[in-house]
Amino acid sequence: MSFNHTDKVAFITGSGAGIGRSTAQRLAAEGASIVVADLDVDGAAETVRLIEADGGTAMAVACNVCDRATIAAARDAALERFGRIDYLVNNAGIVTMHSLDELSEEDWDRVVDVNLKGPFLVTQELNEAIAAGGGGAIVNLSTVEASVVVSSQGFCQVHYNASKGGIPNLTKALAVELGRKKIRVNCVAPGPIATDFVSIDEITSDEAMDFMSQRLVIPRVGQPADIAAAISFLLSDEASWITGVQLPVDGGWLTR
Ligand SMILES: NC(=O)c1ccc[n+]([C@@H]2O[C@H](COP(=O)([O-])OP(=O)(O)OC[C@H]3O[C@@H](n4cnc5c(N)ncnc54)[C@H](O)[C@@H]3O)[C@@H](O)[C@H]2O)c1
Repeated sequence: MSFNHTDKVAFITGSGAGIGRSTAQRLAAEGASIVVADLDVDGAAETVRLIEADGGTAMAVACNVCDRATIAAARDAALERFGRIDYLVNNAGIVTMHSLDELSEEDWDRVVDVNLKGPFLVTQELNEAIAAGGGGAIVNLSTVEASVVVSSQGFCQVHYNASKGGIPNLTKALAVELGRKKIRVNCVAPGPIATDFVSIDEITSDEAMDFMSQRLVIPRVGQPADIAAAISFLLSDEASWITGVQLPVDGGWLTR
C-alpha cells in the first residue's frame, strides 16, 4: 500500500539517519519533496543522495531542534526552495544511559531539550507556514516508553521516560490548538527499532530477545520502514479525521 503525497513538502527533523531517513525516503517515493533537517549535515546529505538516486526531490538543511535560530533559518531555506511546507515530522531524539543516581543535570537538560522542547520549538516556528498553505499535518515521535518503563542495561532512563512521556499530551494540546489552522497533529509510539539509536547488539542480544519475546506479540525487532509506513498514513488525507492520537507501532508491546 502507498499513500499519495504528490506536490506536498515534508520537513523532517533528524532525517539524517534511522527512522527519519526511512520516513524521508518513503514520503519522497510517494511524491513529496523532502526537507532533511538534521544536526548531522553529512547524514542529511546522504539522505538527500539516496532520495535523488531514486528519482525523488530533497534538500538538506542544518538544524538543531533546540536552537530557534537554526530552525527559523531551515524553515526559510525550505520556503525559498519549495515555496510551501505541508508536513512536519518531529522525529529528532536522543537518549543517554544512566541510573537515577548517575544522571547529571546536564544530561537531564540535554535529553529533555531535544526530545520535548525541540518539538515545541519546531512546531512553533513552522505552524504558520503550514497554515499559510491551507493546513497540513504533523507527526511527533513518542515511544512505548511514554507509557511503560523499559529498563535497558539494568537502568531506567528517567530523563528519557519523562521527556517522551510528555509527547502524547503535547500532541493532544497541539491538535486542539492547531485544529483551527486545519493542521492535524498525531504521534507514533515505536517499540524497539533497529537503528543506531541504541546499539543493534544491545537490542538483539539473547538477554534482550528473551526480555522482548515475553512482551512482543509479533516477535521481531522493528524496522525503520515499519514506523515510516505509519507516519505516511497519519500525514496522508486517508487520515483526514484523525487528530490528537498516539498510534503504537510496537509489535504488540503495549497490549500485554
Ligand atoms: N530506535 C528505537 O528503538 C526507537 C524506539 C522508540 C522511539 N524512538 C524515537 O524515534 C526517533 C528517531 O530515532 P532513531 O532510532 O531513528 O534515532 P537515530 O539516532 O538513528 O537518528 C536520530 C537522528 O536525529 C538527529 N538529531 C539528534 N539530535 C538532534 C538535534 N538536536 N537536532 C536535529 N537533529 C538531531 C541525529 O543526528 C540523527 O540523525 C527518536 O525521537 C527516538 O526517541 C526510537
